[in-house]
Formats: sequence, structure tokens, C-alpha cells
Amino acid sequence: MKHFIVILSFLLLAITAQATSLEEKAWAPRAAAYRLTLFLANLDPIPWDQIERSWNDPIQGSAETVSAFSKLSNSEIDALNEAFDTQDRQALFQAATNVIRSGILISLETAQFALGEPVAALNISQAQALYRSFIDGIKAGDPSGFRELGRAWLALNSAVGSVSLSQSILPKSDHEAFAAARQIIEIYLSENYPSSNLTPRKKLTSVPEKIVKTGMQVEVPISLPPGSNIADQREFPRLVLQFEEAGLDEADMPLVAYGDMLFDSPEIFGGPARDLRITCSTCHNRSDINRDFFIPGLSSHAGGMDVDGSFFNPMFNDRVNDHLDTPSLRGIRFTGPYGRDGREPSLRDFTRNVIVTEFAGKEPTPFQLDALIAYMRQFDFLPNPQINREGILTDIASEQAKRGEVLFNKPFNGLKGRSCASCHVPDRHFRDGQSYDIGSSKPPFPGGSANQFETPTLRNVNFTAPYMHDGSLPTLRSVVEWFNATKSLGLSTAELSDLTSYLEAIGGGEEPYQIFDIRASKFRLAFDELTTFASTLNTLIPMQDRKNIAILIDTVAPDLEADASTMINQSAKNEVYGLASILRSVGYSAAGGDWESAALKWESFKELQSEIDEGMY
Ligand code: HEC
Ligand code: HEC
Repeated sequence: MKHFIVILSFLLLAITAQATSLEEKAWAPRAAAYRLTLFLANLDPIPWDQIERSWNDPIQGSAETVSAFSKLSNSEIDALNEAFDTQDRQALFQAATNVIRSGILISLETAQFALGEPVAALNISQAQALYRSFIDGIKAGDPSGFRELGRAWLALNSAVGSVSLSQSILPKSDHEAFAAARQIIEIYLSENYPSSNLTPRKKLTSVPEKIVKTGMQVEVPISLPPGSNIADQREFPRLVLQFEEAGLDEADMPLVAYGDMLFDSPEIFGGPARDLRITCSTCHNRSDINRDFFIPGLSSHAGGMDVDGSFFNPMFNDRVNDHLDTPSLRGIRFTGPYGRDGREPSLRDFTRNVIVTEFAGKEPTPFQLDALIAYMRQFDFLPNPQINREGILTDIASEQAKRGEVLFNKPFNGLKGRSCASCHVPDRHFRDGQSYDIGSSKPPFPGGSANQFETPTLRNVNFTAPYMHDGSLPTLRSVVEWFNATKSLGLSTAELSDLTSYLEAIGGGEEPYQIFDIRASKFRLAFDELTTFASTLNTLIPMQDRKNIAILIDTVAPDLEADASTMINQSAKNEVYGLASILRSVGYSAAGGDWESAALKWESFKELQSEIDEGMY
């Protein structure tokens, strides 16, 4: 029985882990540096300065705020520095691998000398923290070796464990067991992570050397390096949908509901994005932005990334490290053309591009694009009672903001006779659909021309700091100061404050973040969304649309299961698993072409859903 429970909870854990990115246990500094190094050295071009920093500076998401270098011997530091200086990828791989191997060996040796003292256990846990950075490669390439090593680590721990219980001298048998287990690990590491002549690899991984030498193709599951954050941001932006304001229900709008599902589905992407379960929502969280999104090497700061880099789709790598902050999609139907540079007039073509070129997905069907566009066209700005329909301040705005409004509309020589309002046109949602080089970016290479950027809307701008395409200005005040300085506007300190106050007034919005309580919990919100997605089966089953049914179910069932663990009402968790399992069985029937059974099972899903509805929080 006990075993059964262990296995069951392991399974649940595995399911949860794949569907949402739970916060990961912190990495030991050297292990973090090794993982980050491998990730960065697999990018093209390789960000050498960042690799160097990952050993010199403490890494975000690692267990201690010390640099990996502080844990190394001089010769290890020399070997790494040599690799940085010569930008030699193979030498880097060797030096980094040596750090981990010898770190483990030294800790095990120290532990054996200290057997019988508490410090032995500490050394074993340090060794295991380093070994963790090899695990994915060993598990994928050499499962039986992985199990053997697993037993050896257990043996080490139990040999040490018996000391702390008795606080006495360790029996001889424990010394022998420890030595035997240590030897297994030592031999494995020496054979598979040799101190020189590691076989060069196209993609750097921790797959054991003996497996690499056989030439066997090993798929190591994609993972992100320490410090990455692709979970939803802590503050949950409030989503304002046009049809809700009109009193309509999404479940009665199958195309919109299906688009909503696709917006939340990793299944439309290919390659790493799909494996990592990244979706449109991961970055454009609830039509707004996920300001916590961060992947080292791809993002220069949280809230965006280089969308045409090598990681997600090597085919469309522009080989320039050009981070862009994720734009909010609120009011997207009013804010074309699309892309920070305004290169694409069609929302549909832009979206296709995101799926196919940025995230290596298959060509979407016309229906899928229709659905995504129908959904995105529902995104509205947060209501803002401080402005009227023409974008003019209303009576409730402050006097200071009203003084700023005058400045916003005033022509300046430094703006070539234009005013702020001639580009950020108030009755056109404070944008004009044009692109300009306002001096906010540098040419990508010497002699190149600087990028033009499209005038961004200023609606709801209070919630999208930092500002400009690259997030280079932290606050609205700093944007005003930037214009004042670079365009010689000659504004006084009081005028700078007035203009800032105006931007804050037009950039406001009611209830920007979702408010949760016990019943209106995060789970409840997710449950309502997921069951709305599922409601499109009302249309898809009669249409016998196998392909879209499969995408729907592969998106919704794992999410239901993953979200169940976040329920406040944990006693109703099994009912959610039950619901997910009925949904999967609808999928099996549909895949097998048994439409009658699919329809029956779908009916039983709806019955169960309404039965359990009250406890879903
Ligand atoms: C990894 C984060 C990320 C993901 C995932 C992502 N986007 Fe974006 N999105 C961005 C960034 C960054 C930009 C700015 C890109 C540019 O200007 O080329 C952007 C731009 C856009 C724009 C243009 C907005 C404007 O005002 O010009 C649209 C529309 C858009 N994305 C839709 C989507 C859709 C639909 C999906 C899913 C199919 C998606 N995005 C997935 C980060 C992301
Ligand atoms: C010639 C057209 C033009 C004029 C005039 C202009 N802007 Fe802009 N504004 C832009 C463009 C283009 C950007 C985007 C630059 C970038 O992304 O690097 C921008 C960005 C901004 C942003 C940042 C928005 C965001 O979401 O990042 C603010 C705030 C802003 N402008 C306010 C002003 C104010 C205040 C004035 C007058 C002093 C002004 N702008 C004048 C075109 C203009």
C-alpha cells in the first residue's frame, strides 16, 4: 500500500511538473554555472561575455549568492579563463565538465575521511548537488547506469545516516559499504566525464561519454537554465474582453473560445517552445504582458526576449542579439501595424509568423488563424474614466495633468514643429500607425541604419514599465526627461512633472490586476477558462474535426490536472482528475472515429462538470 501511494504521488508530481513550471529547487553555484554555460554555449552566436559572467557573478536562482569561481581552485579558474579568452567552445566544455566531476570526487573523498562525523553528510549532499547537473544526460543516455548510480547514492546516504542516529563510532560494515558505493560513482565519472579528450559534440550536453562514443542519438529533454522564469507573473493582469462588456458568454462563441484555447496552447508550436509548454499567454499574459518572463541568454532583462534568436528556431536566427520587450496586446485591433517596428500590417500574417518562424510550429490552418484573430480582436484596453472617447482628459483628472495636456499638444522646435500629440494622437488611442527613428536605438552594426519603431499607444501605459522597445527607460518620468534632453524641449522641472502627470492620467486603467479570494480563486479562474475551451467540443464533435479536437484535449486535460494541485478546496481534487480523464477518453473515441461514443462521453463530461461546479475553487 505504501509503495502504491509513493508511486501515485510520484506520477502526480510528474504530471504537474510537465504542465506548469513549478518553481525549481535552487541550484548549487557551480552546478548553476555549468548548466547555464551549456545552455549559452549552444546558442548561435555564443554570448561569451555572458558565459564568463555566469562564473564570475552569482547566478539568479542559485542556492547561495556567491560566484561559482569562489568555489574553484586556481587551476580550474585558469582553465576556464583560457577558454573564455580564446573563445574555444570545446575547451570550455572540458573545463566546465572537469569542475563538476572533480567537485563530486573531492566531496566524496572528504566525506569518507569524515565518516562518523556530521560533516560527512554535508559533503555527500554537496556532491549530490553537483551530480544533479549531469542527471538529465545520464538518465536520457544511460538509464541502467542512472539506476546503478542512484543505488550508489542511496548506499552512501544510508552509510552516513546510521551515524547520526547512534552518535557513535561507525560499524566497519558501513565503512565498507561507503567505500564500495563511492567506487562505483568514481569509476563511472572517470569513464564518462574524463579529465581530457572529451568527444566534441554539436550540441553540448551531459550525456555520458561511453554513450556519445557509440554514436547513438540521444534526446535529452529540453530544459531552461537556472534563473529562467516562464511561469505566469505573480500579479495577474485583468483581462477585458469586448464581448463580455456586451454581456455575451464566450461558451456561445465557439470560434473565440477555440482561439482563446489556442492562445493558451503549446500544441501550436514546435521545437523547444512546445516541449517547454510555452504558449502565447506565457508572454502576453491575459492580453497584457508577463513582466517576469526571463530566459538567460535570450532576454537581456525580464519581460521580453530576442524573438529571432537561435534557440526557438535556428532556421530564422538573425544572429543579432536584439532583445525586445513584449508589447501589451490590449486594444490590439486598434493598434496596427504590428511588430515593434510596425513592419506587418496584417494581424493574421503576424500571428502566422509567430507560430511558424519564431516558434517553429507547423503551418496553422485557416480555421486556427481565424480563431486566434477572433479571440485577440476581443482584447480591450482597461477602462479609464480620466479620458473620454476622444482621448481628452475628463473633469476628474487633476489640475496638474491638465497643465500637462497643454504641453502634450504644444509644438516644439526640437520635435521639428510637431507636438507629442501629432504622433501619439489622442483620438486614435495615442498612436498614429507610423514608424519613426526617434533616436531610441543604435544601429545594429557600425555603419548600419538605426531601426525605426512604431509609435506605441499610451493607453494603459502605467502597467507596462519599463519603456521603449528595449525597456531602456524605467519610468514615465524618465521618458519625459529623455525627450526633454535629446530633443532640447527646454521644459522646466515643474513642466516635466506636469507632463508626467498627464501621461499617468491617460495611461491609467481601472482594476489592472485580478483580485482573488477563497471562492474566486486562481484555480476557479483557470477552471472556468478550461471548461470554456472544452465547450468548443459542442461544435467540433458534430464537425468530426479530429485534428482540432486532439489539440484541444492535449491542451486542456494536462492543464486541468496540473491546476488541480493549486486548488484551495483540495478535497475536490479527484473530481478534477476525473473530469480530465473523461476528456481524454473523448479524445480516444474521436481519434478512433467513434463519434457516437465521443458524443456520449462529452455529455457525461458536461454532467460531471455541472455536478461538481460548486466545489471548484
Ligand atoms: C517568448 C515570448 C512571446 C511569445 C511566446 C509570444 N510573443 Fe508575441 N510578442 C513578443 C515580443 C517580444 C513581441 C515584439 C516582437 C516584434 O516587435 O517583432 C511580440 C509581438 C506580438 C504582436 C505585435 C504586437 C504589436 O502591438 O505590434 C502580436 C500581435 C503578438 N506578439 C501575438 C502573439 C501570439 C498570437 C502569440 C502566440 C501564437 C505570441 N505573440 C507569442 C513575445 C512573445
Ligand atoms: C515623431 C513621433 C513621436 C513624437 C513627436 C513623440 N513620440 Fe513618443 N514615441 C514615439 C515612438 C516611435 C516611440 C517608441 C520608441 C521605441 O520603442 O524605442 C515612442 C515612445 C514613447 C513612450 C514610451 C511608450 C512605451 O510603451 O514604451 C512614451 C511614454 C512617449 N513616447 C511619450 C511621448 C511624449 C511625452 C512626447 C512629447 C514630448 C512624445 N512621446 C513625442 C514617437 C513619437
